[in-house]
Amino acid sequence: MVILGIETSCDETAAAVVRDGKEILSNVIASQVPVHSPYGGVVPELASRKHLEYIIPVVEKALADSSIGAKELDAIAVTQGPGLVGALLVGVSAAKAMAYALDKPLIPVNHLNGHIQAAFLSDDMPQEPFICLVVSGGHTALYRVDADGNNVLLGATRDDAAGEAFDKVAKILGIGYPGGVAIDRLAVGADPRAIRFPRSRFEKDSLEFSFSGLKTAAANFIRTHGVPAPGCAGEAGSISLEDFAASFQEAVVDVLVEKTIAAARQCGLSGIAAVGGVAANGRLRARLGEAAVLSDLRLYLPPVRFCTDNAVMIAAAAYRTWQRVGQQPGMLELDAFSR
Ligand code: KG4
Ligand code: ZN
Repeated sequence: MVILGIETSCDETAAAVVRDGKEILSNVIASQVPVHSPYGGVVPELASRKHLEYIIPVVEKALADSSIGAKELDAIAVTQGPGLVGALLVGVSAAKAMAYALDKPLIPVNHLNGHIQAAFLSDDMPQEPFICLVVSGGHTALYRVDADGNNVLLGATRDDAAGEAFDKVAKILGIGYPGGVAIDRLAVGADPRAIRFPRSRFEKDSLEFSFSGLKTAAANFIRTHGVPAPGCAGEAGSISLEDFAASFQEAVVDVLVEKTIAAARQCGLSGIAAVGGVAANGRLRARLGEAAVLSDLRLYLPPVRFCTDNAVMIAAAAYRTWQRVGQQPGMLELDAFSR
């Protein structure tokens, strides 16, 4: 079954053609990073306009790269939500128009389920049930992924998402957008113990997260000491920008790893996965790997390019939904939803 996936929930206009949920025939992403960079975050109105500009060329390129003619597609899948509603509407409208004109089934995909299904794009396929850490710019949550297609929420953030904390702290540091990538790069080889940032912990066994206290602690440090200068590691009494980045990142990663392992233990499961933009983080991937070995768990990580927003995961998720429920009636009436 060949599915065209379309994703426009935030700041990437993406389309991909995927066969049977696994074989990637094309994968096109038009990034809007240069558009939003000057603002240090996504500007929703600009995102909608750029999606409008990019959507047709991106879909055309995905079809051309795949060598699959539009008429040969078996279905069209699109991210329905959550996300920026104006941005989602562009993808949803394009997908509806194509489905109607080509008389193909339309499969709506929940963006979070798209990220979760990216776990099946790892080298080996996870076996349900498994624990999935969804960690992105908009979400930080733990799910139990069941064989019947249900994603059972075990715990989520009470305030900021981890990616949001990365982005906000990077903005204060003035090191660029998206912040997670900038912090990840700076932290390589630096000292994660240079500053002891707080780790939020709730009652025993809680699988909830909180990152606003950490964000405030990082902002307070900068207010008191100024933005750390790059490359001054080892100088008496000074903290380098790299050490700051590594210490902040370690505080985020510590909590993400600890709760993912705790979720597996509490549910008695032996498989864990991490998906979403922050799952591209080098330190998180390494630390999850070490923790999985120590706890005798199997770890599933999608390749880095399928952690951040993409349309392959949307087509893959649609395939698995189709396998379970087949065609649903009334899909041309579907609407985008923000939350
Ligand atoms: O999944 P995603 O592309 O979009 C959402 O659904 O939110 O995630 C974007 C988030 C941003 O906050 C970005 O800073 C973060 O993922 N991110 C990273 C890395 N790459 C992207 N965070 C930490 N380390 C990275 N390497
Ligand atoms: Zn996403």
